[in-house]
Amino acid sequence: MSERALEASARACANIALAKYWGKADLKWNVPAVPSISLTLDQLVTETRVHFDPSLRADLVRLDGRRASTKEAERVVAMLNRVRSESDLRLKARVTSHNRFPTAAGLASSASGFAALAAAASAAAGLRFNARHLSALARASSASAARSIYGGFVELPAGERGDSNLAARPIAAPNHWNLRLVVALTDPGRKKVGSTEGMERSRKTSPYYQAWIEQAPKWSRKIKRAIKERDLDTLGAAMELSTLAFHCCAMTSDPPVLYWAPATLAALGTVRELRQRGVSAWATMDAGPHVKALCQAGDAERVRHALARTPGVTRTWVAKPGPGVEVYE
Ligand code: DP6
Repeated sequence: MSERALEASARACANIALAKYWGKADLKWNVPAVPSISLTLDQLVTETRVHFDPSLRADLVRLDGRRASTKEAERVVAMLNRVRSESDLRLKARVTSHNRFPTAAGLASSASGFAALAAAASAAAGLRFNARHLSALARASSASAARSIYGGFVELPAGERGDSNLAARPIAAPNHWNLRLVVALTDPGRKKVGSTEGMERSRKTSPYYQAWIEQAPKWSRKIKRAIKERDLDTLGAAMELSTLAFHCCAMTSDPPVLYWAPATLAALGTVRELRQRGVSAWATMDAGPHVKALCQAGDAERVRHALARTPGVTRTWVAKPGPGVEVYE
């Protein structure tokens, strides 16, 4: 342990899952039941400051300038408790976090949020920077956050019950492949069913859950190989199957978890049309209605333009491969 500054800030980027995580092998330790692969994105950043303050009698959590809800605060405090127990620290903390993009809208702000929180809290508590350890710490709060510790292309293996140290690992650096992710926002509203709840409902009730768990590793392996070979057509085809299969699993839960809006299908149609015209663009959706299209840097403006003209798409922007978590004073 190094000297404790008691205060630190960290910046982390969101990531998009190319091979999706959906389903837990262990709810208590938050261990994913399938392997996932992601690309960390430079545009979607969370900045978090943690100050362990001797004058505080309770943890104080502010998110985007407002007091966190009870549910949000509980997840933050659970992370602080893990860091406190590792560092033998008793002090309460002031946590201030800002998302530089819309929250809880299927753009995985929990990934950048918990990655930044794990790094800022660990640094403030005087724990030595260790990416693998931070990844496991972040994973316990939100599995996709484990991947945001690293930049570029990242994998998070599936785990088993009690796998409390499961962590993500980097596959390739951001400059390995000059891809772009075009984000098309299709609905400004907040999502209705959180991913944790959606996954548990799928596990307990969807007749397709077992098939998803059995098939997901195959897409993950294909995607990993395609990243190494910079083969966008192979990556894109497997990525679309991975996202459609997880959404099918969610949709066939009881009661159904349907994340799509009419504009989601319209945007999927746009991406298919682009392919018919020879543009290698491929779609993916998370636990929300937005569509993100992966393409080569040189095609990004054309893809963005086509998505922006799609009925129901309210906003578009283009993200690049981004860096891993960074701690600063
Ligand atoms: C659909 O990481 O938000 O975006 O571990 O319960 O916090 P928890 O879930 P979370 O789930 C992300 C689900 C997804 C796919 C993915 O990012 O892999």
